[in-house]
Amino acid sequence: MGVLKEQSCLVLGGAGGIGKAVVRRYLEEGARVVAADRSNDRVVALNEEFPEFIAEGRLIGVCSDVSTWTANQQLVGRVIDEFGALDVLVSCVGIYDQAVTLAEIDPAQLEAAIDESFRVNVGAALLAIKAALPHLRTSRGRIVLTASFASFQPGGGGVLYTAAKHAVVGVVQQLAYELAPDIRINAVAPGVAATVMVGLTSLGQTPKDAVLPGTEAVLPLGSIPELSDYGAVYALLGSAEGSAAMTGTVIPVDSGLLVRGIAPARRTP
Ligand SMILES: NC(=O)c1ccc[n+]([C@@H]2O[C@H](COP(=O)([O-])OP(=O)(O)OC[C@H]3O[C@@H](n4cnc5c(N)ncnc54)[C@H](O)[C@@H]3O)[C@@H](O)[C@H]2O)c1
Repeated sequence: MGVLKEQSCLVLGGAGGIGKAVVRRYLEEGARVVAADRSNDRVVALNEEFPEFIAEGRLIGVCSDVSTWTANQQLVGRVIDEFGALDVLVSCVGIYDQAVTLAEIDPAQLEAAIDESFRVNVGAALLAIKAALPHLRTSRGRIVLTASFASFQPGGGGVLYTAAKHAVVGVVQQLAYELAPDIRINAVAPGVAATVMVGLTSLGQTPKDAVLPGTEAVLPLGSIPELSDYGAVYALLGSAEGSAAMTGTVIPVDSGLLVRGIAPARRTP
């Protein structure tokens, strides 16, 4: 432990399922963290879970909708005011489309649903990166985004989520190219995680369990990962030394979903 010692970090979506696991791991690794999330209830729960880090001045939970430029400017300003630098920007923000098909969406709701999915799943990270750029250049910092199994394969969501998560890969690759050598950017692509994911409010969707019954049976590794399994990979990508030669990569952390094939594997005894 200690790969993020005295690193100043901003974690968007930091009170959600994976986001909170990232915040926990970053704090355990010695980081100072501003964690922002749209859900006030989740921010309150985050603050209640980590009183010792709040007392040390190493955790600040903020309720903020990060889909606007102003919110991201304010959050970056808060990190600089509190910690004096920004070394690592993480986004765990995401909204799921609950696998709704294009045919199922009412045309009257489609424009708003497209705007919402892309604004939150892609745009929030772009706004945050833009706001953080001068500070990340100064610190030779790292950016860690959240892609998905759906960034590579169909069937991990509906078209609104799948297209947006494919776009996250484009953001990572293009910005790795634009921001090198000063800033590195990579992403984690989760497979399944036992969280309650927010849906598209433009379609009237309410939060739902991300893991469907029976999911374990199709995972080559045979079980749903612990949320802490994700936190470890975000720590690697956030650390200056651990991932020093990595930029533009998207790491699947998917229990083998991308290699499951069409038939059960013949396992070597
Ligand atoms: N759970 C899974 O199985 C799974 C699989 C693949 C990818 N992912 C991705 O992992 C990331 C984290 O998802 P999770 O499973 O922890 O879900 P989650 O809903 O627990 O976490 C997402 C968090 O983002 C916050 N958020 C949403 N819109 C926001 C906004 N505009 N401003 C600020 N905060 C906002 C939510 O309040 C929530 O706390 C997402 O990007 C998701 O797409 C999850």
